[in-house]
Amino acid sequence: MPKTKVALIGVGNCACALIQGLQYYGKTDKKQVLTGLRNHSLGGLTPSDIQVVAAFDIDERKVGKDLAEAIFAKPNNAPKVANIAKTGVKVHKGPLLDGVGDQTKTVVQFSKASDADVAQELKKAGAEIVINLLPSGATKASAFYAEQALAAKCAFVNTTPNFIASNPDWAKRFADAGLPLVGDDLVDQVGSTALHRTLLQLLAGNGVKITETYQLDVGGGTESMDTMDRTRDAKRAIKTESVASTLPYKTEVVAGSTDYVDFLQNKRDSYFWISGTYFCNAPMQIDLKFSTVDAPNAGSVLFDIVRAVKLAQSKKLKGSIEAICAYGFKHPPQMLTLEAAEEAFKKFVAENS
Ligand SMILES: NC(=O)c1ccc[n+]([C@@H]2O[C@H](COP(=O)([O-])OP(=O)(O)OC[C@H]3O[C@@H](n4cnc5c(N)ncnc54)[C@H](O)[C@@H]3O)[C@@H](O)[C@H]2O)c1
Repeated sequence: MPKTKVALIGVGNCACALIQGLQYYGKTDKKQVLTGLRNHSLGGLTPSDIQVVAAFDIDERKVGKDLAEAIFAKPNNAPKVANIAKTGVKVHKGPLLDGVGDQTKTVVQFSKASDADVAQELKKAGAEIVINLLPSGATKASAFYAEQALAAKCAFVNTTPNFIASNPDWAKRFADAGLPLVGDDLVDQVGSTALHRTLLQLLAGNGVKITETYQLDVGGGTESMDTMDRTRDAKRAIKTESVASTLPYKTEVVAGSTDYVDFLQNKRDSYFWISGTYFCNAPMQIDLKFSTVDAPNAGSVLFDIVRAVKLAQSKKLKGSIEAICAYGFKHPPQMLTLEAAEEAFKKFVAENS
């Protein structure tokens, strides 16, 4: 079976976790394959069927370096869990555009190399799927790389909260080109939004009237820094909409990122507050802290999405692929309940394997 060839736009913390995960789960040790992944085999594909063939960044500590070295370069701070042998894939210099905000300028070292012809490099590498892992504030840069994916005839996976898959104009352009498009804003494997939605669904299903609830995150990666600077409001709107959609009635809901705390490194703490009433107006409250490491939280979902997009490509599906978007993203073109999204994804995989 030929490998699924992917290109990474942005060699930051998520890319670091993804590449380490490919090595970690590429081994055949049974215990390892059974822990930490939602699906080891999906549509007959395992993580070892995924191959990274190209990568782009703008930081001089990453550009020109082999991916094995670039993923551990500063300011990345995702934990190292695997020794990565040379991959033979050198990081190209991509155009900067709005990739770096005022805050992250303080931690990025700009490469002076000249910009690669992105579409050309994607074609040369034989890339089939482009994964956009740019900072969340990189709106113009995300659009630029989506254009390059179109030009190189690649599917596009948008992990950022910029609206691409959920924008009907982009969906039409990918559909017209015969290419799959999925997004927007990746869900985490053990995510605060999914946990919040599950708790609310459980309570509301049991007859609880939620009166107010919030979920506030603090994190320490550059993405948290960029969120504070450029996308706090947009991310808050996406998360709040996603959480509120779980309840069958309107109530006070706030969900979003609150602050950047450098010493947390790649960790993220989420604080939940839920207040409501149940039988004869009796009060109930939940006050909860949930701690995760950010980058590894993207790995398992990305493995599933890449393999599902490969299935879509093999069946010549095009445009926004709703079952993949609803399963893997917080702002899909069509929001489904967690159960309906899981069901739609399983059905999609079964029908297209
Ligand atoms: N669990 C998760 O980590 C998670 C979950 C949901 C969504 N996401 C999304 O994934 C994306 C990546 O997150 P991250 O933590 O890896 O971010 P990061 O800040 O660690 O990495 C971003 C990388 O993009 C590079 N970059 C900036 N501008 C560029 C350009 N013009 N061309 C090429 N490269 C450029 C940066 O140098 C950096 O290496 C974010 O948009 C985030 O919202 C992540």
